[in-house]
Amino acid sequence: MEIKTVGVLGCGLMGSGIAQVAAAAGFKTHVAEANKKALDRGLNRINKFLDDGVAKGKVTAEEKEATLGRLTATTEIATLKDADLIIEAITENLDDKVAAYKFLEAAVAPHTIFATNTSSLCVTELAARTRRPDRFGGLHFFNPVPLMKLVEVVRALTTSDETYQALFSFSQAIGKEPITAPDKPGFIVNRLLVPYLLDAIRCYERGLGTMEDIDKGMKLGCGYPMGPLTLLDFVGLDTTYYIANIMYDEYKDPMFAAPPLLKRMVLAGRLGRKSGEGFYKY
Ligand code: 3HC
Repeated sequence: MEIKTVGVLGCGLMGSGIAQVAAAAGFKTHVAEANKKALDRGLNRINKFLDDGVAKGKVTAEEKEATLGRLTATTEIATLKDADLIIEAITENLDDKVAAYKFLEAAVAPHTIFATNTSSLCVTELAARTRRPDRFGGLHFFNPVPLMKLVEVVRALTTSDETYQALFSFSQAIGKEPITAPDKPGFIVNRLLVPYLLDAIRCYERGLGTMEDIDKGMKLGCGYPMGPLTLLDFVGLDTTYYIANIMYDEYKDPMFAAPPLLKRMVLAGRLGRKSGEGFYKY
């Protein structure tokens, strides 16, 4: 199936990045966000990234304009109706996602594929709540989307071969490296990453080292681009807590249990970069 037009639902950190890379790769792209303030924030993020890219010599001014020219931004979700592929990147709330699919399904063409960028919900369950469980899958992007090369292509139990292939090819067409991930909590990357991050918090709680030394150790000793506590602040402590709880619920394995400090930091509103304070101050 040929994908020409892409719809992105949600213009937050992930949605804006996804819309940007789709438009940059030559796809006509609509990005929709119900909230005007959030839409403007997302567009500012895209503009700033492209401006920085020009300043760094990574993209030309013409490429920047061409990307923006292929991108339309709207608060009318119905604008996505002519998309061949709709990537949903709204908040991790099952009911909100299902309501959005229902609304879109009333308007889209039969061939339209839905993909969710969920990092924690069950893709098979989301697919089952639509009338197109065979034309539904997961496309899990990584933050910051324009810079991280990976996309996990997640097959729900019901995803057809044709849909899976279309999602895989689309990921390649936008310049990403796709891998096939199972519809299990955490897919591949978060299944490995989240226990590591939780363990770093446990080690810090138990006095293994200072925050700075734990981060420096993993950054300089293992060549990771960020130490685990810096990465937690970057991903968001609330996001990590949420994913950990879902993984713990499903696997019942203590390695996924959120450490007490994580829970308390989330309750205190110390969510990382997004709130101005997490393990570090921003
Ligand atoms: N336009 C084009 N290119 C740009 C750019 C821009 N606006 N801004 C930066 N770049 C390029 C740079 O030129 C550089 O390219 P080079 O390697 O060819 O020189 C590269 O991107 C890196 O940029 P910087 O040097 O400015 O930044 P850093 O080296 O500090 O890297 C980072 C920043 C990429 C965020 C790095 O710290 C990193 O990889 N951190 C880890 C991020 C991570 O793990 N993300 C995944 C989180 S988990 C997740 O998302 C899953 C979810 O479900 C929780």
